[in-house]
Amino acid sequence: MHFDIFTLFPAMFAGPLDDSIVMRARTAGIVSLALYNIRDYAEGKHAITDDYPYGGGGGMVMKPEPIFRALESVLGLPPRSAGELEAAPSSRPTPIILLTPQGRRFDQSVALELADHPRIALICGRYEGVDERVRRQLCTDEISIGDFVLSGGELAAMVIVDAVTRLLPGALGAEQGAADDSHATGLLEYPHYTRPPDFRGWRVPELLLSGHHANVQRWRRQQALLRTALRRPDMLEMAWLTDDDLAFLARLEQDRELAGRLQADL
Ligand SMILES: C[S@@+](CC[C@H](N)C(=O)[O-])C[C@H]1O[C@@H](n2cnc3c(N)ncnc32)[C@H](O)[C@@H]1O
Repeated sequence: MHFDIFTLFPAMFAGPLDDSIVMRARTAGIVSLALYNIRDYAEGKHAITDDYPYGGGGGMVMKPEPIFRALESVLGLPPRSAGELEAAPSSRPTPIILLTPQGRRFDQSVALELADHPRIALICGRYEGVDERVRRQLCTDEISIGDFVLSGGELAAMVIVDAVTRLLPGALGAEQGAADDSHATGLLEYPHYTRPPDFRGWRVPELLLSGHHANVQRWRRQQALLRTALRRPDMLEMAWLTDDDLAFLARLEQDRELAGRLQADL
């Protein structure tokens, strides 16, 4: 899978995507990314990429020309103007995603959806954002990473690259599947423990030391259900639950003592 990232600050990407899982996936050829400086597509001696907003007000707005030129050049899109018919969309067009706090909210299901594309373009805004014609005439999608405002789309792009890369086959290695991760199953993940079994008197739950695979699996499932019920009950409405899960949740409702005992592990 390939990401084309359009930004005024390509240097920001050095570091977060050059280490650990994303870097390993890049080295293994599972994911690749290319950074494009929007300023390189601006014309004139000063290569201006932003201008004052029509109608006044504070802040600057990113100009449409350099962004259109960058995307058209990199993705090989024919330049289009008002009144022209859309070129016939190919069977699988590259999504052109504008990062904006006004977009649809990024979550694990959006990450899964994006992981299905062979190529994705991400546009990082700055200042007050991009000229509205970029959103309306160039982008195919708009994504927000949460209900807060960042200074630019770069961190949002890195979040998306990381979350999507984890889902690509082979990115996590055989040992470390993403299948149990929080949100992947519709539940929050169960708690993890590692050695030592006793740290300052805080012991690992005895059952995890038993080596009894089926009991460990049942414990993990129940802990995931309990944790989700306590922290994110809204997720249970959407989660795919077995009859055993539903029976366990019903028991939790009725048996406060059981819920308390299990919570001791959380
Ligand atoms: C300061 S913000 C502009 C916010 C804009 N004036 C508004 O109120 O919608 C600058 C850029 O940061 C990026 N950005 C800010 N918050 C974001 C979020 N929650 N998710 C994704 N991108 C975000 C966008 O690319 C945006 O164009």
